[in-house]
Amino acid sequence: DKGGHKHFMAKEIAEQPRVIGEAIMHYLSADGRSIVLPEKGIDFTKIDRLTMVACGTAFYACLTAKYWFEQLAGLPVDVDIASEFRYREPPIPARTAALFVSQSGETADTLAALRFCDGKAATILSVVNVPESSIARESDLALPILAGTEIGVASTKAFTCQLTVLLMLALKAAHDRGALDHEALADHLSKLRALPSAFNTAMEQAQPMAAAARKLAEASDILFLGRGLMYPLALEGALKLKEISYIHAEAYASGELKHGPIALIDKHVPVVVMAPKDGLFDKTASNMQEVIARGGRVVLITDRAGAAEAAEDAWITLLMPQVPPLLAPILYALPAQLLAYHTAVAKGTDVDQPRNLAKSVTVE
Ligand code: M6R
Repeated sequence: DKGGHKHFMAKEIAEQPRVIGEAIMHYLSADGRSIVLPEKGIDFTKIDRLTMVACGTAFYACLTAKYWFEQLAGLPVDVDIASEFRYREPPIPARTAALFVSQSGETADTLAALRFCDGKAATILSVVNVPESSIARESDLALPILAGTEIGVASTKAFTCQLTVLLMLALKAAHDRGALDHEALADHLSKLRALPSAFNTAMEQAQPMAAAARKLAEASDILFLGRGLMYPLALEGALKLKEISYIHAEAYASGELKHGPIALIDKHVPVVVMAPKDGLFDKTASNMQEVIARGGRVVLITDRAGAAEAAEDAWITLLMPQVPPLLAPILYALPAQLLAYHTAVAKGTDVDQPRNLAKSVTVE
């Protein structure tokens, strides 16, 4: 049942404020001031390193979470693609927690990576959507993301719920390790509780996003740029777009632009720049100017403060509500998803069942 939507993907995108809210509430204590994990939980004072492993969109959720764990909790994090990790067979130092992220919980490479870590890592954690899946069952601690069944092959609500749970886990790590006191933790959690309503506000921009997508649908190559927490989001935006619209899209960390990809820029290659007005905004805005100076057309996704500084030169500006910088990656998933969705609709592709792709990759 598509609930009145044209595609499951559209339905799943629209469900996000509700399911993100449910995921937040699931892990909040009754007074809303601390985080409660299932069963035995995990004590991050006993952990010196976190190794995160996943595939596809779940891998981008891990890349985002690396910033959170490192910045909030001072915990060193490695992130790897499961198909690389499992054959590289890296050394796993003592006091390493291994964390596997998977919507289905059945991805063959991720499961093999988990089995490689079993008996070597201090503990095996997973962040999964399907609680009875193999990855959940074989973990010491499985954290459900509570996104509900996801049918569209392009992952949407699972990604934002993965991010939500990973952020809460990073906050818990920061608290355990003494980097956040009770007050600071409660303050972060109260801001997180406001995220579903910011998501609803962002959804009011669906029309301008659809209009931008119709323009992007004419391109054959599109670049995505982001810095810091927005770099994994740029990767996710490019993956989403290529999966369902079949337009060639690549993402780069903004600072990498002049190390090669800038050679691709001309008026035929639109550049989507994801840049809330955070501490790195000015750096990304100057990369945007480098694109414009070479005739590139920029789709700028930012908030009001960012638009006030940089929208003048952009081809298209899409406005997002202002949220604390730590929460921006969850919110900015929405324009990444909607741009891909409406581009695919404009091209008439099979949005929910794109060619060559399966929802769950249970073979290598
Ligand atoms: O079920 P999993 O989260 O382990 O799946 C991982 C990837 O196969 C998945 O995220 C894939 O990249 C999606 N099609 C992305 O939209």
